[in-house]
Amino acid sequence: MGEIDPDRAHPARIYDYLLGGACNFEPDRVLAERILEVMPGAAEAARVNRAFLRRAVRYCADQGIQQFLDLGSGIPTVGNVHETAPGSRVAYIDNDPIAVAHSEIELADTPTAEAVLGDLCDPDGVLDAEPVRRLIKPDEPVAVLMVAVLHFIPEPYDALARYVAAMPSGSYLALTHGTVDTKPPSSGDVINLYENSGSSVAPRSREEVAALCDGLAIVEPGVVWTPEWHPDAPLTADPRDAMAYAVVARKP
Ligand SMILES: C[S@@+](CC[C@H](N)C(=O)[O-])C[C@H]1O[C@@H](n2cnc3c(N)ncnc32)[C@H](O)[C@@H]1O
Repeated sequence: MGEIDPDRAHPARIYDYLLGGACNFEPDRVLAERILEVMPGAAEAARVNRAFLRRAVRYCADQGIQQFLDLGSGIPTVGNVHETAPGSRVAYIDNDPIAVAHSEIELADTPTAEAVLGDLCDPDGVLDAEPVRRLIKPDEPVAVLMVAVLHFIPEPYDALARYVAAMPSGSYLALTHGTVDTKPPSSGDVINLYENSGSSVAPRSREEVAALCDGLAIVEPGVVWTPEWHPDAPLTADPRDAMAYAVVARKP
């Protein structure tokens, strides 16, 4: 973490390319195009994921949440958390220095939000970071967002437990998570492409995603395909095309 290696494709910049962004290098674009060759729905899946983030943030804000810890926040794009929940306090955490540098530029005029370079697998480092301590009040309910990030982490369990332990009652965890439950024929190719570029990939089943919320009360409609989570409009495509589950859970 902390070093920019423009010769290696990185999930933050691959995702940015899939979303039509410009914060990516040649290796990111090459890998993203190879992913699109074997899985043409990957760009739409990225947009669907991003749309969930906005719905989940709105939901949490409607429940009275005024502070957000966005872990694996990525490169700023349409519908960042501080824009979707204006007036809230937001700490953006990512382990990609490019994502953090772009977030710092985006947030230059927003004193209530800050970007921090950090590894979500180091919860003490994240929670002790000065901007996090300044923005996130430990005794006030918080929404912890882990959107499209845990499938890059084979062993997130201890870190997750630490974040959940730090969340006061009334806090929320919101996440999306890639899966191969529908056995998409090209999923093995996509996993190989990521792994050959140095990223770990850990798709999880619906039950495994539910287990990530152990100790929390999963809110309706449960662990569902991402487009099915409180959709803004009737669905027009097969929700399984998202290749990811979404869930929001509340700490009792
Ligand atoms: C697919 S993007 C998702 C971005 C954003 N959460 C969203 O859903 O729009 C995954 C992000 O997680 C970040 N990431 C991956 N592993 C991480 C880790 N261990 N700690 C912090 N960020 C991580 C990547 O750099 C990338 O920006």
